[in-house]
Formats: sequence, C-alpha cells, structure tokens
Amino acid sequence: MNIVLTEIKENIAVVTIDNPPVNALSHVVRSGVSDAIQELCKDTSVKAIILICVGRTFCAGADISEFGKPPLSPSLSNLMAKMDQINKPLIAAIHGTALGGGFELALGCHYRIMIEGAKVGLPEVNLGLIPGAGGTQRLPRLIGVAAALEMITSGKPISARKAFEVGVVDRICDNNLLVSATKFAKDIIGKPFIKTSELELLASPEIFEEFSKKILKRTRGFLAPNIAISAVRAATEKSFVEGVKFEQECFEKLMKSPESLAQRHLFFAERLATKVPDIGKDTSIRKIEKIAIVGGGTMGCGIAISFLTNSIPVLVLEQSAKTALLAKSNIEEIINTLFVKGRLSENQKNFTTENLTISTEYSDLSLSDLVIEAVFEDMEIKKQVFQKIQKFAKQDVVMASNTSFLDLDEIASTTSKPQDVIGLHFFSPAYIMPLLEIIRTKHTSTDVLAAALKLGKLIGKKTVVSGVCTGFIANRMSSCYGREAGLLLLEGADPEQIDNVLYKFGMPMGMFSMLDIAGIDIGVLARKNIPTESFDERAFRIHEALVASGSKGQKTNAGFYCYNGKEKTLNPEVEALTQKYAEEYGIKRRKITPKEIEERCLFSLINEGFKIVEEGIAIRASDVDVVYTSAFGFPRYKGGPLHYAEHLGLDYILKRINKFAKVHGNRWWTPSSLLVSLVRENK
Ligand code: 3HC
Ligand code: NAI
Repeated sequence: MNIVLTEIKENIAVVTIDNPPVNALSHVVRSGVSDAIQELCKDTSVKAIILICVGRTFCAGADISEFGKPPLSPSLSNLMAKMDQINKPLIAAIHGTALGGGFELALGCHYRIMIEGAKVGLPEVNLGLIPGAGGTQRLPRLIGVAAALEMITSGKPISARKAFEVGVVDRICDNNLLVSATKFAKDIIGKPFIKTSELELLASPEIFEEFSKKILKRTRGFLAPNIAISAVRAATEKSFVEGVKFEQECFEKLMKSPESLAQRHLFFAERLATKVPDIGKDTSIRKIEKIAIVGGGTMGCGIAISFLTNSIPVLVLEQSAKTALLAKSNIEEIINTLFVKGRLSENQKNFTTENLTISTEYSDLSLSDLVIEAVFEDMEIKKQVFQKIQKFAKQDVVMASNTSFLDLDEIASTTSKPQDVIGLHFFSPAYIMPLLEIIRTKHTSTDVLAAALKLGKLIGKKTVVSGVCTGFIANRMSSCYGREAGLLLLEGADPEQIDNVLYKFGMPMGMFSMLDIAGIDIGVLARKNIPTESFDERAFRIHEALVASGSKGQKTNAGFYCYNGKEKTLNPEVEALTQKYAEEYGIKRRKITPKEIEERCLFSLINEGFKIVEEGIAIRASDVDVVYTSAFGFPRYKGGPLHYAEHLGLDYILKRINKFAKVHGNRWWTPSSLLVSLVRENK
C-alpha cells in the first residue's frame, strides 16, 4: 500500500494520503508528502497540486503517538517551510475533519476546498498544546485575530459553511471532492496566488488582554490557552519566520508540561475505555433501533433528549397520564431552550416533535429493542418494573437500568433473562454530561454489551464499562470524597474552607456548593437504599438534619449555604449542627489545614480508585480517570485521580494513607493492595 501516492493527469498532480484510520501525519506521511512535493516542483509539466486524503477523513493532525519520542525528520514544521517555497498553486481538498496539524497542512496550501459536512479546527488545546506547525501564525493572517483566537483557544472545529464565511476555505462542494478540486485547479492555473504567510496582519494589543479576560473562567488551570494567545500576539508583532519560531518554542515547552502529559493521557484513555478484552470485531452486536424509557423524571427526560438530539426516536412510559404529559412538556421545554441557545438546529428540534412518543401502557413496549428503566431509586419498584418489561417487551429486548447505586445482579436475577440486563448509567443532565457508565453484570451477554458500547458512541458519549458494586465506579469514588468532606466538617472545617480548597485544586466547585446545587436530599434518599456498611453515617448526619429541617440546597434557598439573590453566605444552622454532632460522636474540633483537606478528600478518592481496579470493577486504571474527569469535573490537566497519583508519587500517597489510617482508623483508610504492590515493585 502506498501511504502517499502521486498521480498526474494532464497538468494537475494529485497527492493522496492513505494512512488509516485518520491519516495522522506520521513520519512516513510527512516524508512521503515532502518527497512528492519536491519531485512535483521539478516537473515543469505540473501546473497545480491537489493534496487529498482517502478513508474517513482528511489528516486528523500530528501523530499523537509519536509525541514524547525522538523527533524524526522531516518535522511538520520543516514540511510546512518547504511548502511555503513552492512556486505552483497547492490546493487542499478536505473531507471529514482537518484537525490540528492536518488543518495546518491545509493552511500551508494556497487554496482550500471542502466538501459539505466537513470540519476544520485546531484542537491542540485539548491536548494541553498549541498548534505547532504555523497555525497560530497563518490562521489569524487568514481570518483575523478575533476569530483565530476563538478557534485556537476553544479547540472547537467549525463547519465547512462557517469556514467559508470566515474565509478559511475558497470553495465548498456537495459531492465528489476530487472532481471539484480538479475543476477548481483548472480555474486558478496561471493566475497569481498568495501565500498565507505573506498576508498582512494588524491588531491592537488590547484585543489580547480583553480576550484573556473573557476566557479566564473556562480555561482556569489550563496552561495552553494563554500561551496560545501569546503566540497569536506574536503573529501581530513579529515577522512570519520569527512568529513561527516563537510558536515552536511554546509548543515544545508545553509538550514537556505535566498538563499536556495529563491531557494526552486522557486522549488515549478515552479511546482505550471503549475497548473491552472479550469484545472484538467478530463479536455479534444485538440490534438496537427502537428505544423506550420507563420513567420520565429528571433522568428519563434527559436520556430521551440524548437520543432524540441524535436522531433516534424514543418512547417514554410513565405511570399516569398526568406524569406522562409532564415528561413530554419537560422534554419539549429543554429542547426549546437548547434551540434558543443555538445548541440545536431547527431540524433536530423538529425531529423531537415528530419522534417522541409518550405512553402509560406497558404493552407499548412490544416493539422496543432496548428499554431503559429510570424510575425511583428503590429496589422493589425497580424489580417490579423489570418484570413488567419482560412480560410486555419482545423476546430479545435489552433491559437496562439507570440505577445509581443498586445491585444490578439482584435486579437481573428477577428476570428469566439476566444475560439481557445491563446498566446504562447516565449522569445529570444526561443530554449534557459526556459520560455513560455501562454496567456489566455477571450475566450480561457480550452481544448486549457490544450493543451498549455502540449505542454510547452513536449518541456521542464517552463510554466506560464497570462491574457491579455499590455506586459502580463513579458514585463509589465520589462517596469516599463526600465522606471525607463530611467528616472534616465535624472535625472543625467549615463548608467554605473545604470548598475553597477543592476549587483551588481545580474541581469546578467544592463539595458543599455542589451538594447545594444538586439537592442535598438526593444523596440522603440514595443512602436509604444502600447497605449501611458501605458508608460512614457520621459523615452525613448534617446532610440529613439539613434536609429534615427543609434546607435541601439552592432549591429551598438554604443548604450548606444560604442564598439571597446572588448573595451566598454560610448557613449558621450548619455550624450549630457540626458542634452538636461532633460532641455526640466525641470528636474534638480543631483547626484543619488546607493540605489536610486536599489530601483527605483526594487520597480517599485515589485509594478507592485503586481498589476498584484491584477488584476488577474497572478494566484498567485509565478507565477510572475517564470516569472521574467526565462525571465530576476532576481537572483534565491533572489527567484524572490515578494519573495524578502517579504524578505526585505513589509512595507519597501510600505514606499519607498509612498516616491517615493511624489517626482515623483503618475502616476507610486501609490502603489498596494494588497501590501497595505498585509501590513495592517500584522500589
Ligand atoms: N494521532 C494518532 N492517533 C490518532 C489521532 C492522531 N492525531 N487521532 C486519532 N487517532 C487514533 C485514535 O487513538 C484511535 O485509535 P484506536 O482505534 O487505536 O483507539 C483511532 O485513531 C480512531 O480515533 P477515534 O476513535 O477518535 O475516531 P473518531 O472517528 O471517533 O474520531 C477524530 C476521529 C475526530 C479525528 C478524532 O480521532 C480526533 O479528534 N483526533 C484527534 C485530533 C487532534 O487532536 N489533532 C491534533 C493533534 S496535535 C497536532 O496536530 C499538533 C500540531 O499542531 C503540530
Ligand atoms: P425522578 O423522581 O425525577 O423520576 C422518576 C420517574 O419515574 C417519575 O417521573 C415517576 O413518575 C416515574 N415512575 C415511577 N415508577 C414508575 C413506574 N412503575 N412506571 C413508570 N414510571 C414510573 O428520578 P430521577 O432523578 O430521574 O432518577 C431516576 C433513576 O435515575 C434513579 O434510579 C436514580 O438513582 C438514577 N439517577 C439519577 C440521577 C440524578 O442526578 N437525578 C443521576 C444518575 C442516575
């Protein structure tokens, strides 16, 4: 197979890249393109060169798997410099997604043509990097500083239409990209062409400061976005060659940063998480086309929207006509809000209206391939619902539960087909949260699991497979984190102190602010349905007392904090309760340091993460990182709890866990044996 192939027809050369799966710019591609261009420059019969890819996409960027390895010549920058010397028109013909170095390659061409539906973007910030092949210098020259800053710091790709509007591409075609590119080449042969690197760029310095301020909140803790801004600024202050040099220095510095290492770890972790050892290409996949959801409350509605916005019809079954209508109007209201905010197209909105069915009759499940139960978190109710699903749905229906904590093996055992039962644990709001935790029971068959993985991908979720345990991966870990926060309250910290430490660490918000938003009552209710030995009741006494007195969080204007309009102050009730329960439990209150708060909350989480891997609940350590970054906003630039643990040093973590065990007892602080053995092996 030729990874880079050159063909000349009449006076137009076509250089085709064929490097599956995503035409990454690996060494072999860079040298292939470089050689091809060199040859074509010498051939006087060639008047224009088209650069095109085969397979599912144009180049998806530099080959990320080469990062951190010794560089092989030619580098992408060398290739781009060579392209800049070319004396005949170069046209990039783009389909799929031209991303990162792939898009930079296209920017190094003199013209770009895109097929409708294709996208271009510079997602390097998602890897903790900035564009490193001239993107920060060429893009602003082409589309202006403001638009370039937005694209580079957000990492979000733009559509062909948008690319045409802002001036990134010269032509859009409906179909047959090569034919259109050839026609385009014929149109421009003999005409003067301009190199992007030679375009003039002017901008006032204020734009950079203003932009920096604008993105402060969304980029908190990330290193790359601000460096990207300085690289774009360099494009306005330095010559093109000097600007490229500056960009390269920034790129190399970032490449060595722990932030980029962490984000690159997550890139591969998220893709690895979709792979399950006993599910291969040959595994048969249960057909899932028609989907029903039983229970149209918060989660049922959110799950329905996740499918509807991905063009999958949904039937929502509720217990009464009144609750069914309520579910329908809730779904429609959310869809409308998403549409007004520009997050959904008119077509998506219309699809919902035409493809949402509500019902109160279990017999309406008879055509569904998958039924997802999202009723109250109560074992008895769920068992009854599963029996009804089995009675009314077809023989090979997949029966799923959205339970947060309950024993899925037990739920499955009430059906005669436990192999068809699986957990599909969405997070709230389900149409926004990126994670789908797929729970595999001891009976779940491989074709059902394969179908769930496929479905997750279809609706754009990151999927991670978990075994059965209380809370699965996400909530089991979060419970430890919440436990330590609760105990620290009793021991002398206040909610604000704890929240500030966790926020400073990089969490989107502290534990108690989060509980106030989610509703403290949800956790209180959930704990009623899980084995008491799985949590420390002392840690949640204050939560229970608050809920009992009607302080459920923001929805009641009082929880751990009191809310008055935009004003948020500590709830004095909490201080009184902590004193009371500390006394009851014989806990002597003391001054707690930020270091103790951070380590107790995070190391308990890390220890539990290792136990989850050790028990085989997670397939691998990196799956735990995917779960916690996607479900609870653990900072991506720290790579997830277990990656962060490695960064800190496993021996240090173990030492601290042992110390906490000595002080607080080993009920919760027994170190994971996996952690112990990893530390031992490393010595
Ligand atoms: N380098 C190496 N491997 C890559 C890759 C890349 N740039 N992009 C994707 N892959 C691999 C994935 O790891 C995966 O491998 P696997 O099958 O062994 O798990 C395989 O290609 C398929 O990837 P996806 O599962 O993600 O496929 P999708 O079809 O869902 O998505 C995509 C395709 C949108 C192209 C997505 O893969 C993607 O976003 N890729 C990364 C794009 C990116 O970040 N580019 C910038 C790279 S950095 C750069 O270019 C620096 C430059 O400025 C110098
Ligand atoms: P909810 O109380 O908002 O909704 C439950 C819905 O189920 C109600 O509309 C109710 O009318 C309906 N229902 C009850 N019994 C029914 C029956 N027999 N037939 C049909 N409909 C019935 O609850 P929520 O929050 O949506 O939770 C549902 C499930 O999702 C629970 O298992 C919960 O643990 C889980 N979950 C909840 C999350 C959350 O943040 N709320 C997050 C992830 C999972």
